[in-house]
Amino acid sequence: MQHRDSTPDAHALMAQAREAARFSYSPYSGFPVGAALLCEDGTVIKGTNVENRSYGLANCAERSALFAAVSQGRQRFVAIAVACPASGVPVSPCGACRQALSEFCPPGMPVYFAGSGPDFVTTTIAELLPKDALHDLKDTVREKG
Ligand code: THU
Repeated sequence: MQHRDSTPDAHALMAQAREAARFSYSPYSGFPVGAALLCEDGTVIKGTNVENRSYGLANCAERSALFAAVSQGRQRFVAIAVACPASGVPVSPCGACRQALSEFCPPGMPVYFAGSGPDFVTTTIAELLPKDALHDLKDTVREKG
């Protein structure tokens, strides 16, 4: 899937998120999650949740996708889709993932999240993480330094 403009195909991205959930390692929660992060260059990087017998080490699907993308040299994103096939209702990214995504994603970037059904919710980074006063901290730090 290649996107050369800034209009993401939400349904196609969600299909990739659902695919990613199939690789979930979630034997403790039984709650697979998949994420598909659309990069500015058109690449889609997928991630899934990876749990551990030391429960607190679980990594969410969104951060798996984000960290994989950054590790592959991509830091500019245009949309993310999140799918939770074991949930009857759409599940939005957790607080930690909202914070992590906001480091790289513009406030207006669309976020799509789904449960097991075909419908999904469309929101933005700014709606998920409002009053993000330190959004431009790295620019502020650079200006000072
Ligand atoms: N999880 C995600 O991967 N993303 C979310 O947005 C919500 C929670 C994972 C973490 C854990 O493996 C399981 O779902 C249950 O919380």
